[in-house]
Amino acid sequence: PPNAAPKPSSWVSPNWLTSLARSVTLSGGDDSGIPIVSAKLEDVSDLLGGALFLPLFKWMNEYGPIYRLAAGPRNFVVVSDPAMAKQVFRNYGVYAKGLMSEVSEFIFGSGLAIAEGQLWTARRRAVVPSLHKKYLSAMVDRVFSKCAERLVEKVQEAAINGTAVNMEENFSQLTLDVIGLSVFNYSFDSLTADSPVIDAVYTALKEAELRSTDLLPYWKINFLCKIVPRQIKAEKAVRLIRETVEELIQKCKKIVETEGKKIDQEEYVDEADPSILRFLLASREEVSSVQLRDDLLSMLVAGHETTGSVLTWTLYLLSKDASSLKRVQEEVDRVLQGRLPSYDDIRNLKFLTCCINESLRLYPHPPVLIRRAIVPDVLPGDYKVDAGQDIMISVYNIHHSSKVWERAEEFVPGRFDREGLLPNETNTDFRFIPFGGGPRKCVGDQFALLEAVVALAVFVQRMNFELVPGQNIGMTTGATIHTTNGLHMKLSRRVTEHVYVPLHSR
Ligand code: HEM
Repeated sequence: PPNAAPKPSSWVSPNWLTSLARSVTLSGGDDSGIPIVSAKLEDVSDLLGGALFLPLFKWMNEYGPIYRLAAGPRNFVVVSDPAMAKQVFRNYGVYAKGLMSEVSEFIFGSGLAIAEGQLWTARRRAVVPSLHKKYLSAMVDRVFSKCAERLVEKVQEAAINGTAVNMEENFSQLTLDVIGLSVFNYSFDSLTADSPVIDAVYTALKEAELRSTDLLPYWKINFLCKIVPRQIKAEKAVRLIRETVEELIQKCKKIVETEGKKIDQEEYVDEADPSILRFLLASREEVSSVQLRDDLLSMLVAGHETTGSVLTWTLYLLSKDASSLKRVQEEVDRVLQGRLPSYDDIRNLKFLTCCINESLRLYPHPPVLIRRAIVPDVLPGDYKVDAGQDIMISVYNIHHSSKVWERAEEFVPGRFDREGLLPNETNTDFRFIPFGGGPRKCVGDQFALLEAVVALAVFVQRMNFELVPGQNIGMTTGATIHTTNGLHMKLSRRVTEHVYVPLHSR
């Protein structure tokens, strides 16, 4: 299947994690004040299992909120403390994306997600205005609700037959359809047809993750990229994604040029095509087609798997917590009265939003963020960081630390039940950072939350679901936290007193 979990064997390569096995003598110190991890063999076997963020958590409990992980040429300082994360995120002039840009340049090119310096400032300024309130409201009505409804329609047959459904796969398809329509006004139609693009995005992201742990960055040598099978596969995947995006840009460019329309108001939405691509082209800003392609590709990749994984883990958590599920169902029925959600309904779906935020706390995507110090710095607690130092901010550790959260390992959506106040990095003082923070914070945070609320509201409104028994729902990583074997659910149509508004006619 397109979003099948990565095989543990894909980790068995000569990477720096494997070399930890050989460097178990790394205790001792330097003048930075940062303790150095002395890895044990059992930790290394965890690493080979495929989820790097899990041993990072174990080491936080052993070594504290900051430690150094070093092997071969790689040397990371791992940060698991809100105040330290705040300093790193907020000081974008001191900390750049570093390794993150190096390992994912083959996908994003010069796109917003990894651009640095003035280019990044200019592209962020161009892209952010496209995600305005009127656009988000149009997306709720025209894209999020309709795609969610299509998902419900699609699973009806399995619900009637009693066949188990892999909801992780379905959510991945749903979010690709949503991001395609919202960014390009293009339907990948992946819910109903096989989409090679899902597979390609997954292959490309997996390659970026492997590159971040390779001991020898052999992929920097062009010639080797042409003969190593893993690189050939990755290049092919990126080519497919880029060609798809380029085609969409050309089509839209022709329409915009023919119509000759120009943005004449701040919150511009083209009725026929409210997509971000249309907004950016109609704003007639001087930008090359390659830059536009890379920016849009940044949005496509950053917005697809992340939101899909949030839906997967929230559904999983609800399936394990009958009382929270009942509360969500009651809320959805009371607020929507059988309708599809509108933009204004969403602020009333408070408890469902709390469940999604709590899911983002327990399963942050990606679980670890990477930065590189450009100049020397001192982190809170008097820890010295040299220029050039690679840093991992473990969002997973901060979100799971018992020093940061009460009942840290439990699903307690009520902790976010604060009248009118959505949790973010500022009002939690960087204890809750699912979208990062500082100047490089996610541009799609509101988009993603709205999409997740709509998708789950429609699903919970119309379907009952329960986990197929006997599944081991383990965690593994791509760019997000995946399940190891999918999320298989038994579904049935939910019958309530509300008469459903008929499905959209298409
Ligand atoms: C950046 C998470 C959805 C577009 C980020 C970052 C995080 C994140 C943590 C910061 C990375 C860093 O500091 O290194 C998420 C999560 C999402 C989500 C958890 C879903 C729940 C989206 C969506 C879009 C999007 C839907 C587009 C519509 C971006 C872009 C950046 C970014 C373009 C780079 C911003 C920059 O560097 O200036 N995201 N994201 N994300 N995200 Fe999201």
